[in-house]
Amino acid sequence: MLHEYSLLILLSFAAHTGWVHSVSVTIPEKTVVGKSGSTVILPCLYSTTVGNQFVVEWKFLPGNAETTRWQQIYYYDGKAYKPGSQADRLTIVHNPPTSGIASIQLTNIAGLDNGTYICEVNNPPDFDGSGSGIVQLSVLVPPSYPTCQSKGNTITGQDATLTCSSTGYPTPIYRWSMVGTNTALLPGMMENQITGSLLLTNLSEPMSGTYRCTAQNEMGQATCQVTISVSSGSTAGVVAGAVVGVLLALIIIAILFYMLCYRRKRKNAPKHEHPGNEIREDAVSPMMSDEQRQYRESQHSRGSRDRSENRAHVV
Ligand SMILES: *[C@@H]1O[C@H](CO)[C@@H](O)[C@H](O)[C@H]1NC(C)=O
Ligand SMILES: *[C@@H]1O[C@H](CO)[C@@H](O)[C@H](O)[C@H]1NC(C)=O
Repeated sequence: MLHEYSLLILLSFAAHTGWVHSVSVTIPEKTVVGKSGSTVILPCLYSTTVGNQFVVEWKFLPGNAETTRWQQIYYYDGKAYKPGSQADRLTIVHNPPTSGIASIQLTNIAGLDNGTYICEVNNPPDFDGSGSGIVQLSVLVPPSYPTCQSKGNTITGQDATLTCSSTGYPTPIYRWSMVGTNTALLPGMMENQITGSLLLTNLSEPMSGTYRCTAQNEMGQATCQVTISVSSGSTAGVVAGAVVGVLLALIIIAILFYMLCYRRKRKNAPKHEHPGNEIREDAVSPMMSDEQRQYRESQHSRGSRDRSENRAHVV
């Protein structure tokens, strides 16, 4: 702090005495590291004699963004504006930022705040007019709850891969273990602590069981589990065949059942007619056989002359 202020005094002295003709921006801390949820200050000091056209501007480029589009997050030209998505968590440390300090404070930071920030001071007619400085914000995030998956057939003699994936910063490293055993991993099991995969080669039945993945970084750790059961190929083939067969049979039964119900419903439909529902009565299916149609006609002509006339019109 002492250092910052002495630098500031020196710079403003320099500005006043006139041997600096442009705005000069100083970033005393180029990289700021903060834990998610904490409050950080992004520092920006400048030297100039604040005039009428003095402007301070902060812009943000998200660290993981594919675009190179800077977002304006703070703007001061006599009035202050906070147009960015961080507005409610952003404050200017010295308000108004006209005394050589344009640092901003961000509260409750998250991974989305990670990235590059630019502080820009513009003060025409200072020679050159503007100065700017860059601050990197690195947000430390504990590993997210990972997802565990198993890929490949868990058949004796074959290989399978278990995968584990989590996000966090710094990038988590992964460790696998078998649940309920003392030995961490058996021979033939190869873990990749960077990608999070566990390769199980030449599967055998003792490799059946529950595997736990732990994703860890300096902020904490999180785990997930996946269970596999290794079976001999033939049994597995039979089981798979049976499952497919049963599924097919179920689908066929469902289709037949649906068709049956649908036809019955259509057949029964006229019996459930509301007396006043002319539209429904008239909607005679063109699929009806002539006998059915004649039967219906005779039934209805007994009831109402009007209606049978209507129907004759439609049919
Ligand atoms: C955080 O931002 C820095 C740039 O400031 C970038 O290098 C880094 O990859 C970002 N980290 C994440 C997790 O996005
Ligand atoms: C696979 O494991 C079986 C015993 O489970 C062993 O007999 C065989 O030699 C192994 N094959 C390879 C290629 O390691």
